[in-house]
Amino acid sequence: MLNFSFQNNTKILFGENQISAISQEIPADAKVLMVYGGGSIKSNGVYQQVTEALKDHTWFEFSGVEPNPQYDTLMKAQAIIEAENIDYLLAVGGGSVVDGVKFIAAAAKFEAQDPWDIVAKGASVKQALPIGAVLTLPATGSESNGGSVITRDGNKLPFGSPLVRPLFAVLDPSVTLSLSDRQISNGVIDAYIHIMEQYLTYSVNGKVQDRFSEGLLQTLIEEGPKALAAETKQDLEVRANIMWSATMALNGLIGAGVPQDWSTHMIGHELTASHGIDHARTLSIVLPAVMKVRREQKHDKLVQYAERVFGITTGTDEQKIDQAILATEAFFKRMQVPIRLGDIDLGTDQVDVMVNALEKHGMTKLGEHGDIDLTVSREILTTAL
Ligand code: NZQ
Ligand code: ZN
Repeated sequence: MLNFSFQNNTKILFGENQISAISQEIPADAKVLMVYGGGSIKSNGVYQQVTEALKDHTWFEFSGVEPNPQYDTLMKAQAIIEAENIDYLLAVGGGSVVDGVKFIAAAAKFEAQDPWDIVAKGASVKQALPIGAVLTLPATGSESNGGSVITRDGNKLPFGSPLVRPLFAVLDPSVTLSLSDRQISNGVIDAYIHIMEQYLTYSVNGKVQDRFSEGLLQTLIEEGPKALAAETKQDLEVRANIMWSATMALNGLIGAGVPQDWSTHMIGHELTASHGIDHARTLSIVLPAVMKVRREQKHDKLVQYAERVFGITTGTDEQKIDQAILATEAFFKRMQVPIRLGDIDLGTDQVDVMVNALEKHGMTKLGEHGDIDLTVSREILTTAL
């Protein structure tokens, strides 16, 4: 196992009716800015629950954070923060809202000239406003990690700081009942691929991390399709298991002390930035190609994945790997997401466009060995056609 330090300070408030608990989590004298997206919280009762819980607080609201949150939108929150002396941010929504709030929190305290430097140049975040989160879409893990992904002028880039990790996160599975099938699928697939990117590398004998990861993958394989099936989609236990899996997938636990390979995400971000494709639907296209192209480097872990996650124990190692890749694609199809660029009507001409975008963004040494250069990324994209 590799050396690591692990700390996760986000207090999780899990279960039905937990939104009311935010009144105790946010200091009574705080001036709160509630931030949300396009309005789904107004039609599913979440807005009402949050405002009821905040009734004894001084609070303001800022809405309109879009999926794949945009710098220009987020910067508009700075005016209200200054005018009202806001000192606490409450994100109410999916990963985009939580990510957006992380940027708002860092930008509000950024002393140098242009807060975009935090994202584009990795300028260090020295201070940030405190953040709480009410999560409405289980997917990204953003509610209890320090990561965020922001888009500006077609550039979709990550930044991270422990200072923007939410202090608390409410996970009420019942609020996910209003999600569309498409968003349920997206969430399950995003979480699945977060686990894969921390698992499918090379072994460092991290038994705890491996077995946690395998258990989470199996949970998503079991529960994901149930959240889409008419007879089980209202089942709150299904929703609870998906919600907790998605948080555990990217709260730092399974990735501590093991190599990681975020190439699927970095290539996927370019597809979203150029074509507006939902985040998870870029990943379901790229991951199978990464498994195929990196088959040799990931050989032992692919065999372990085949045996332990899918129970494929007969045949040669190569046959097990073939079957595991097919089983992964079959699961993605069950979850109704695309697995090839052709499924979303993108063709060969896009390979160059994506490779150029990766180069522009410095994504030239990806993967657990840092050897997924532009040539390998091209091969991955070509394999995904
Ligand atoms: O904006 P509203 O009206 O709320 O609607 C949203 C949005 O249209 C809707 N929605 C959310 N909760 C709902 C709901 N609709 C009905 N009922 C509910 N309970 O769903 C739509 C998508 O929301 P979004 O927040 O964009 O989805 P998701 O949670 O998948 O977040 C995706 C973003 O997170 C980033 C992605 O790149 C993308 O920008 N990621 C962040 C990560 C992190 N911070 O660690 C890691 C991830 O890999 C990912 O990159
Ligand atoms: Zn993701």
